[in-house]
Amino acid sequence: MMKTKEYFGYNRKAKIVTRPNPKLPYFGGILGLYDQLRLIIKRRCVKNIMVTSAVVGEGKTTIAINTALSFATMAGRNTLLVDTNLRYPGIHKIFDLDRDHGITDVLLGEMDLEEAFKKVKTNNLTIITAGRTLQNPAGLLGSEKMKWVVQRFSSMFDLIVYDTHSVTVSSSALMLSPLVDGVMMVVYSGKTRREIVQLACSSIRNAEGNVLGVVLNNREYYIPSYVYKII
Ligand SMILES: Nc1ncnc2c1ncn2[C@@H]1O[C@H](COP(=O)(O)OP(=O)(O)O)[C@@H](O)[C@H]1O
Ligand SMILES: [Mg+2]
Repeated sequence: MMKTKEYFGYNRKAKIVTRPNPKLPYFGGILGLYDQLRLIIKRRCVKNIMVTSAVVGEGKTTIAINTALSFATMAGRNTLLVDTNLRYPGIHKIFDLDRDHGITDVLLGEMDLEEAFKKVKTNNLTIITAGRTLQNPAGLLGSEKMKWVVQRFSSMFDLIVYDTHSVTVSSSALMLSPLVDGVMMVVYSGKTRREIVQLACSSIRNAEGNVLGVVLNNREYYIPSYVYKII
């Protein structure tokens, strides 16, 4: 992924829209997601959203960042973006931040919550990076401390977006799912089999997570060949 020093604009490679501009490519898709999420958030009183996927590379980090940015910039909501993918964190790379001094350090009791907040150029957006690398981070995200952390974030921000692991790679996303209000499942269009996605959704439901919906990433709208025949 491309590093972004300049947050206001469009990062073509990372597919990130950082301010409302209908002329930007992919803006329509991001706006569609933003509109739908706004309705869900209002109707179901959702504040904490976890972004996950069935397998790796489906666009979790891309969607998590776009979601947080659109609520921070377009709705002016006080938004927190947390990197809870402790094995393969990516948010610090996009925002060119230090990975250390993040959520892991807070959960291990080595840092206060407020010390982990990282400000970026974008107004209304705060980031918490993954923190220092651990040999075995399993269990941390399902801990009592994490439960407390999620509640504290809820009392401090309007919206909290958690970027996580893929469900089939690690149990950490499953552990976090019952602690948040809702789960957004990202599916890379044309890549992951329907059964795998269904399995991932049912694992989340079994873990008592609440699946808000599926985001179809990189959806292509094909023009059927008969249209060409007509014209
Ligand atoms: N809609 C898209 N179109 C093109 N490339 C994309 C799209 N969504 C994600 N990518 C690219 O795919 C790669 C994996 O995306 P990422 O968000 O890091 O996935 P994950 O966090 O699920 O592993 C990245 O290089 C990202 O820029
Ligand atoms: Mg990622």
